[in-house]
Amino acid sequence: MLKTKQKDKYIHTEKENYMQVGIESIGFYTSRYFIDLKTLAKERGEDYNKYYTGIGQEKMAVPPPDEDIVTMAANAAHEALQNAEVNAIDMVMFATESGIDQSKAAGIYVHSLLELPQTCRVVELKQACYSATAALQMAYGHIHLHPESKVLVLASDIARYGLGAAGEPTQGAGAIALLVSASPKLLALDAHAGFYTDDVMDFWRPNYRDEALVDGKYSVRIYLKALAGAWEHYQGKSGLKFEDFQHFCYHLPFTRMAEKAHKQLAKITGHRDMDENVLAEHIRDSLIYNRITGNLYAASLYLGLLSLLENSEKDLSGQRLGLFSYGSGCVGEFFSGVVQNGYRSYLMKDEHLKVLNSRIELSYPEYAKFYSYTIPTDGGTYLLPKNETGLFRFAALENHKRIYERVQ
Ligand code: COA
Repeated sequence: MLKTKQKDKYIHTEKENYMQVGIESIGFYTSRYFIDLKTLAKERGEDYNKYYTGIGQEKMAVPPPDEDIVTMAANAAHEALQNAEVNAIDMVMFATESGIDQSKAAGIYVHSLLELPQTCRVVELKQACYSATAALQMAYGHIHLHPESKVLVLASDIARYGLGAAGEPTQGAGAIALLVSASPKLLALDAHAGFYTDDVMDFWRPNYRDEALVDGKYSVRIYLKALAGAWEHYQGKSGLKFEDFQHFCYHLPFTRMAEKAHKQLAKITGHRDMDENVLAEHIRDSLIYNRITGNLYAASLYLGLLSLLENSEKDLSGQRLGLFSYGSGCVGEFFSGVVQNGYRSYLMKDEHLKVLNSRIELSYPEYAKFYSYTIPTDGGTYLLPKNETGLFRFAALENHKRIYERVQ
């Protein structure tokens, strides 16, 4: 049983009583470089099937030195805002666990690069891989109060475990931008969500470290426990059942994690004997992109959602999706939404495939060189080496300030 302060029975309120609020558009960006995990496996003396099959990852995105959470988020946001009413944006929330400054919100740089209105709140949020979900839910509440406004939720991260660490093959880098509004052309969120918080040390990164510390196997167990707790809370509030969902998206530290999670959810909801192909079909399309980018931490769940929407051959209009967000430490949240009619015309699948298929493959030494680059900390003036990036790049350091530039 969950420890809960609320004893009242929840009543599932039909969605029609609510204004529709949710995701209007999704922008995605990942590094222009990747390493194939066959290359990494060879270097680490592992059978590549451990990575390809055992953890379900094939490629991982590797950011060059002139790419960081700001440039990736700016690129994703630029895409998400292509057809948007930018002047209506009055809040930008930047979710990350790869912060570049202890004080200033990374979102302010993005706000500036994209010339967003000055009548805007900007803030950064942190809770491991979970914080973009907190941002999305805060945006949901904000828009219910101010239906004319739009909120930009940015999730951008660089996953770093260390050369040779157990988590190394699950690294990745990238960003997702969600435009949230009362005109949810892609996904209208349901009002109910279930939460689970527990004080555990499965993954953390002290301020003096560039790389995360992780008890990997423990984190998998805690993830599953948080899923059970968040589902129980969600189910009690919403009254919805496992069979009310056509597809599920899970936080994806590596794609096999979703398979483990989905089996667990099927088991605790009394569907232990459900046909394995049906269970696989529930999540299959949500795994396609993450398999070739690696873990995007805060953005991972939302890249999974984008992957499902863009890769499902079936029309998902009207279907209810179950989403599970997890951030180590830990917070889990189960929530849901309904795919909107005509959603396909608001997706940018061709652009995403073009970007993913034109990435540059790195050799192991090239990957290790990018990985090991450290930016100078003496306050001098330095130009960052120029590599392939998107529209924005981290160009220079001057007097402890990061300077960004637009490339084209
Ligand atoms: N062919 C196919 N599968 C293989 C294999 C091979 N040659 N060799 C190993 N495997 C399988 C293992 O059986 C295991 O499968 P299982 O999970 O079904 O038991 C899987 O590959 C992983 O192998 P394992 O030995 O457990 O890997 P590991 O000790 O290197 O650690 C993680 C795996 C996930 C714990 C590690 O990558 C990690 O710490 N990741 C970062 C933390 C993380 O992502 N946590 C998730 C919650 S946020």
